[in-house]
Amino acid sequence: MATVAEPTAVMDQTVIHPPKRLLYGPGPGQVHPRVYQAMAQPIVGHLDAYFFQISNEIQQLLRKVFGTKNEMTFLISATGSGGMETAISNFVTPGTKVASFGNGYFCDRQAEMARRHGGNVVRLEKPWGEVFSDEEAANFIHLEKPQVVTYVHAETSSGALQKGDAICKAAHEVGALVVADCVTSLGALPVEIDKTGIDIAYSCSQKGLSCPPGLAPLTVSPRALEHLKSRTTPNSSWYFDISLIADYLVHSHRYHHTASATMFYALREGLALIDEEGLEKRWERHHKAHLEFVKKVETLGLEMHVPSPANRIWNLNTVKVPQGVDDAKVRATLLKEEGIEIAGGFGPLAGKIFRVGLMGPLATSESVHHFMHCFESALRGAGYKGRIG
Ligand SMILES: Cc1ncc(COP(=O)(O)O)c(C=O)c1O
Repeated sequence: MATVAEPTAVMDQTVIHPPKRLLYGPGPGQVHPRVYQAMAQPIVGHLDAYFFQISNEIQQLLRKVFGTKNEMTFLISATGSGGMETAISNFVTPGTKVASFGNGYFCDRQAEMARRHGGNVVRLEKPWGEVFSDEEAANFIHLEKPQVVTYVHAETSSGALQKGDAICKAAHEVGALVVADCVTSLGALPVEIDKTGIDIAYSCSQKGLSCPPGLAPLTVSPRALEHLKSRTTPNSSWYFDISLIADYLVHSHRYHHTASATMFYALREGLALIDEEGLEKRWERHHKAHLEFVKKVETLGLEMHVPSPANRIWNLNTVKVPQGVDDAKVRATLLKEEGIEIAGGFGPLAGKIFRVGLMGPLATSESVHHFMHCFESALRGAGYKGRIG
């Protein structure tokens, strides 16, 4: 008969002591102290008038950060992948032709979800780190004439930023809806939903918004909503059905699920912090930190993975691992000696890049300086002999 092993160590049953980390990875990013304070407030029920007041304030603040007038702008109780599943499951039905731009891991996830919802997926692919030109995007869409187009704005697996204007223009010319993944970009660099012409966009709470993971901001254009109304079958996902969630959060406030007041408080505070700073100033702060980072990286004789500066994500930097250096050793030293978390590459970029996030509270000159000091020392410890920074 199977037995359950007794725990070997005695647990401290009263309190936990998580290690203090500096989150310089691709996400979660560092959480602002005011967000932690907001999370310590007493919860109210998910149908309390105060909960809906907070939810409404979040909706207003989210519209600003997304750069949209879309009424349907609210939070999905899930991580970024839940935002993705909401976007895909509501607009892809069996037989829907989906044109997927594929230049990284999260583009692949969009395509896989579309397939699972019965979509007929056609792909245009590029190596991880490259982006699609306006002409390539338009040609692909005009050739395939899809009903839905998917792309990832800031591809966290590679560090590449894919502009959406040409994709949206071509998609609308053939009558398609555009689904954009803004998981890494929202709150750190311009997303501009309405100006770009994106129909459905989703994000997460744990990167550019400086909150813990657990919520997925979503925005849906009136055009996409019209499309949704014409659906003849209900969404096969009950939890991610936009009409049901909108009924709860926007219209009748009827129970759909038990949303976390704690996480809503967190996001309300994270968005208020952005509003107080000013969105453009926040973008500028992330841009400046990124440029300082690149300069220091190049001074050290290292190379960025994304060749063109215009195609680099400001809050997620990918640096090539220099010849002969074991990236895992560098990451382990940073974690052990400095409490600094960064990430390596995976898939085709495994062992080839470091992924360094400069998000929210860590997107400052001091933070870049501190990180580069520790990074150089960890690289030297792993045998890097390049230029002295
Ligand atoms: C671009 C992108 N899309 C989607 C996701 C999935 O988000 P989550 O891990 O919050 O489910 C991530 C996560 O890092 C991401 O970077």
